[in-house]
Formats: sequence, structure tokens, C-alpha cells
Amino acid sequence: MNLENNKYFNFKNKIVLITGSNGIIGNELCNFFLELGAIVFGIDSKEKSVKNSKYTHFKGSVANDRFIFNKLSLIIKKHSKIDIILNCAAISIFSHFEKRTKKEIDQTINVNLIGTHNVIKNYVKLHTKKKLQSSRIINFGSIYGTNSPDFRIYGNNDRFNSEIYGASKASIIQLTKYLGVMYIKKKIFINCISPGGTIVSKNKISKRFYTKYSSRTPIGRMATPKDLFTAIIYLSNSETKYTVGQNIVVDGGLTVW
Ligand SMILES: NC(=O)c1ccc[n+]([C@@H]2O[C@H](COP(=O)([O-])OP(=O)(O)OC[C@H]3O[C@@H](n4cnc5c(N)ncnc54)[C@H](O)[C@@H]3O)[C@@H](O)[C@H]2O)c1
Repeated sequence: MNLENNKYFNFKNKIVLITGSNGIIGNELCNFFLELGAIVFGIDSKEKSVKNSKYTHFKGSVANDRFIFNKLSLIIKKHSKIDIILNCAAISIFSHFEKRTKKEIDQTINVNLIGTHNVIKNYVKLHTKKKLQSSRIINFGSIYGTNSPDFRIYGNNDRFNSEIYGASKASIIQLTKYLGVMYIKKKIFINCISPGGTIVSKNKISKRFYTKYSSRTPIGRMATPKDLFTAIIYLSNSETKYTVGQNIVVDGGLTVW
């Protein structure tokens, strides 16, 4: 099959913006869309990590209203559109609830909720002002936006899973529903993906945690970013025209039993 000319799988020259582009998922998504022939823009609070002539990096915070407006305007000025926005930028807090500080709450909400809110708000304003065509926005929730962690996995080890991270991700799932309904008339398709535990390599995390987490999933392992690609392709595909405000869970079945 010639995928390049197949309307169900054509990402060539699509304009893609990925926030959190330095992260383990964001980085792989940048390379994935570049491989598919897309023109990719990344936003991250860290310096550029993707090396490709079709990749442009903007260093800054998703929570900065002016910065986001300026960068979205710049992309639209150059390409007259943004086809796909992937809101990956987020922070995680791994300390215990009883030790939670106001600063940690503010930081988490500022990046995870306000950051995503900010990108969508500024995009929608520009989409309306410039009368842009259809676009796809994919937010990043988490299984911990809908389910509690199983504390037998996490215990008090190095990856204690925090309540404030889960609460911020629950807000993303709800934001997706609200804005998905609100903006479908403008042909902005807003959906969410909620991954389970996703790692680059099991060698990079504690063996005890990996084994415990894996035994909790029916599929018997943690995810790698590649496990998310097919769901991302589905949600960012211009031929996906009847899926609105949904939360697609990709977790190896962890939340099913
Ligand atoms: N990896 C997982 O196990 C997992 C599971 C469920 C959901 N998720 C979600 O998937 C998304 C990507 O996860 P990841 O594992 O790649 O995370 P990550 O921590 O590896 O990457 C997040 C990126 O966001 C950037 N960032 C942080 N604050 C920012 C800000 N204010 N402005 C711009 N960039 C900022 C960081 O520099 C980092 O590069 C996140 O939304 C995360 O919550 C991840």
C-alpha cells in the first residue's frame, strides 16, 4: 500500500505542534511525525533536543499566555494553519500527600491545567480570527485522572504517585469534554489520550517498581511511547470525523480489572 498517498494515513507536510517536546513521550512523537513527513514545532521549558531540519523549537512555558500567543501566531503566519496540537507538557510530583506544599500544588496546576488551557484558548482565538480550517487537538490525561493508583505498586518508593498530579489530569479529561463540545462547530476536534505508565527503557527505572507495575497490567509490561502511536494517529487523523471530547485509554488493560 502506498501510505504517502493514502488519505487515511497522510501526514506529509501537516503542521504539528507538540508541547513538552523534550519529554519521553513528546520527544518520540516529534520524531514520529517527522518520519511521517510532517513539519514539527516543539515547545518546552528546556533547550532543543530534537535535531531535524523540519523541526523548530521554542523554549518557554506553556503557562505563559503571551509567549504561547506569540508562538502560535508565528506558526500560523508562516503556514496559515496548525493541523495538529499535542498538549504533552506536564510535571509530576512524587512526594506524599501529607507533605504537600502550596508551591507544589501551584506548580502542578500551573503547567498541567493552565498550560493546556492556555494553548487551547490561544489557538481557538487565532483559529477564529484567521478563519482557519479543521484542526485536531490531543490533550494528555492519565489513567490517574480517572483511577486511583494501586498503592501496593507505588508504596513509599521513588515513584510515589501524587494526588495532585491525578487531580490535574482529571481536570484535563473534563476540559477535553467541555471544549470538545464547544468547538466542534468550528471543526476543532479536541480529544484526550490517557496513557498508563510509559517509559523509554526498563533499565532506567527501579527493577522492583517495573516488576510490580508490570504484574498489575494484564499485558504484563509497561508501555513505551511507541505503544501510543496508533491512538495518536487515530486522534490526529483528518479522516477521524466523528470522535469528539473522548478520552482514549492506552494502559495495557491496567484499569480494566
Ligand atoms: N510517562 C508516563 O508514564 C505517563 C503516563 C500517563 C500520562 N502521561 C502524560 O503524558 C505527557 C507526556 O509525559 P512524559 O512522560 O513525556 O513526561 P516528561 O516529564 O518526560 O516530559 C514533560 C515535558 O514537559 C516539559 N515541561 C514541563 N513544564 C513545562 C512548561 N511549563 N512549559 C513547557 N514545557 C514544560 C518538560 O521539560 C518535559 O520535557 C504528560 O502530560 C504526562 O502527564 C505520562
